[in-house]
Amino acid sequence: MSKNKSTNINTLAIHGPNKQSYPNGSLSPPIYQTSSFVFENVAQGADRFSGAEDGFIYGRLDNPTVRELEQRMASLEQTESAAAFASGMGAISATLLTLLKAGDEVVSTSALYGCSYSLLQHHLPMFGIKVKLVDEVAESALEMAVSENTKVMYIETPLNPGLEVLDLSRLIDFCQQRKIITVVDNTFMSPVLQNPAVLGADLVVHSATKFLNGHGDVIAGIACGREEMIAEIKSTMRKDLGAIISPHDAWLLMRGLKTLPLRVARHVENAEKVAAWLEQHPGIKSVAYPGLASHPGHALIGSQMSAGGAVIAFELQGGFEQAVAMMNQVHLCRLAVSLGDVETLIQHPASMTHSTYAPDELQAAGISSSLIRLAVGLEGVEDIIADLQQAIDKAMRKVNISAA
Ligand SMILES: Cc1ncc(COP(=O)(O)O)c(C=O)c1O
Repeated sequence: MSKNKSTNINTLAIHGPNKQSYPNGSLSPPIYQTSSFVFENVAQGADRFSGAEDGFIYGRLDNPTVRELEQRMASLEQTESAAAFASGMGAISATLLTLLKAGDEVVSTSALYGCSYSLLQHHLPMFGIKVKLVDEVAESALEMAVSENTKVMYIETPLNPGLEVLDLSRLIDFCQQRKIITVVDNTFMSPVLQNPAVLGADLVVHSATKFLNGHGDVIAGIACGREEMIAEIKSTMRKDLGAIISPHDAWLLMRGLKTLPLRVARHVENAEKVAAWLEQHPGIKSVAYPGLASHPGHALIGSQMSAGGAVIAFELQGGFEQAVAMMNQVHLCRLAVSLGDVETLIQHPASMTHSTYAPDELQAAGISSSLIRLAVGLEGVEDIIADLQQAIDKAMRKVNISAA
């Protein structure tokens, strides 16, 4: 197997880092749909288990289709290695449980993807891990929360659902000086727009369910990082929690990756137009999208990230009641959670993706009950805007607020 020389992301997404040669001249990678791998003799089985010989043993540990996906993801995130999981939460929980033990401390923001919040707030403390979540999404707040027991800083940027942006270089430098491990959730950007490992992050995690797969038909996760850290995650928590991706889903994900750069470019193009349109609409109270010049994180475009992504958070002038009325009126956009799919998806974080937060926790994390999250898809942008327009118009009439 020889290396592909190109570092171009379009080429890597299609061919991967290695020039593959599959059985029977197959162009597409085979799906190794097997639970076990046969040993030639007992000595070989023992060598595989002891690690003296590299090779496959059992599908909960490793699989050739999964391994190829991991090599492809590592090349896209520019890390030495990667581990693939059955979900984004599988990747995040196995990673944090590998890194942390009783007495260690993890620092993060209280605004996070709902299940990441629930893992940190409710479950890690059950293992004696101290969790400090700061309400203010600001580098200084995270830095102030760090103590000598802090082992991990867990960062999402842009944050789900409010799209706040954190300065990765600043936080990574701060953590490196204190030997704190940085774990960055790169789901909202994908490796096409942001590479946290290039900025020095130790581990990059993804809900691969989103942009990486892109077609709304796979639940998957990825952790990318240095060889020894990834090997430890695979041989401990991924194995013992049983969180590896299935070979078939690994194959679907590789298929999705081939068009990732193309899809992300079009997602961004559409999202920029939708965000600009929302921003000038008189019925809109606020729009958060890092690609807009009005967004506080916009200054990091060009250094930390190359564009604002394709998720927009906005509020209508008429508040919660009008937000609900609007979401009930969409036709083309689908009322569904998730993001990074070809379809435009709209959802209500406070009652859906972030329903893991109690009402006072939502308030502390700054997640308002009137916030709407829009994950812009790949449809014709004029159709997306027309659908939003008619839904907003109807909601405004219903709640009796004039568009003027
Ligand atoms: C930012 C972020 N991280 C992690 C996850 C969890 O991923 P999964 O649903 O694939 O477990 C999500 C899911 O929405 C997410 O938005």
